[in-house]
Amino acid sequence: KTMLEALNPQPQDKILQLIAMFRDDPRTTKIDLGVGVYKDATGLTPVMRAVKAAEKKLWEVETTKTYTGLAGEPAYNAALVTMILGQGFADRAASVATPGGTGAIRQALELIRMANPKARVWMSAPTWPNHPSIVKYLGMTGVEYRYFNVATSGIDFPGMMADLERVSTGDAVLLHGCCHNPTGANLDGSQWDQVIALLKKKGAVPFVDLAYQGFGDGLAEDAAATRKIAAAFPEVLIAASCSKNFGIYRERTGILIALTSPDRKAVVQGNLNFLNRQNYSFPPDHGARLVTMILEDAALTADWKAELEEVRQNMLGLRRALADELRRATNTDRFDFVASHRGMFSRLGLTEAQVNRLREEYGIYMVGDSRINIAGLNAKTVPVLATAIAQVL
Ligand code: LMR
Repeated sequence: KTMLEALNPQPQDKILQLIAMFRDDPRTTKIDLGVGVYKDATGLTPVMRAVKAAEKKLWEVETTKTYTGLAGEPAYNAALVTMILGQGFADRAASVATPGGTGAIRQALELIRMANPKARVWMSAPTWPNHPSIVKYLGMTGVEYRYFNVATSGIDFPGMMADLERVSTGDAVLLHGCCHNPTGANLDGSQWDQVIALLKKKGAVPFVDLAYQGFGDGLAEDAAATRKIAAAFPEVLIAASCSKNFGIYRERTGILIALTSPDRKAVVQGNLNFLNRQNYSFPPDHGARLVTMILEDAALTADWKAELEEVRQNMLGLRRALADELRRATNTDRFDFVASHRGMFSRLGLTEAQVNRLREEYGIYMVGDSRINIAGLNAKTVPVLATAIAQVL
């Protein structure tokens, strides 16, 4: 066998597989509720106005493409730390710019493994499929904690607390800061307080994935849990993404923040820099630079926030419309949870056979666990989806 002949086929990522299936479906009536990409009422994923304006300005003022900082441009890291945590964390926050949120998750897991190869990584059941996939790829031990109550489509809070009782000192616990992916079900403030108290007692290290800040209850509201965690624990890892809230998916713009004590910060920062250098050297700059330009300019910030708020309100409106239509079409309140879920996704609680029928017979594409991307809908397709669901139930 040659070297490359020794390779085995890899399992396909379910979400990415769905993109290809949708693309290859010739039906003009097909509806894409798969990958987590925002789409407006016309089905477009627009470049946000402030991003366009920043790009234009950048083209005018940029004089070099030489390397920037290994940890990213310091102004970007500082702006993101403030956007996520507010003021007062600069002396505790080591950070590196990363290629998207996935890059930040990967670097966080590598940092955990470097610091403590025995640390286990606790993940909600279910979670974004790439979480356990990377944990496994790195040879780390992943453990699930209960999270979703299938009967109510809400949180299984007693189950979650019971499972987190088994966390050991030094384990990392991956938490979705807001807009849980794939379920859409989120902890309320008092539940967050209880989780924080329990994890503190256990000596766990919180590892927050914040990929949808601004898509749930608002930019600051969606960071509230992360801020509570940051204030409560001596050490916290935060992997954040600008893909969704700035709509710059392909620019790969993310950040890993490691909160530590001020006197440990330099060593932690050095380790983050080292990881960037080993994995890809300098992080991508274009998206990070646009984000910095927007966040450092009051007018651009205001315009970006206004457009982000339109996006959020549009998804909330679609949630209410879909819950109403499902009530009408199915004659039950079984799907009322769609209106109270937050973020891009809701898990509808359909069987795999029902999901397959929706795809094959109706050209409606959702992830196999019946996760839908709310933003894939519009006023016209909401009733189409509701009627189709009623048919396959
Ligand atoms: C999703 O869950 O659909 C998004 O996070 C996109 C991705 O990379 O899977």
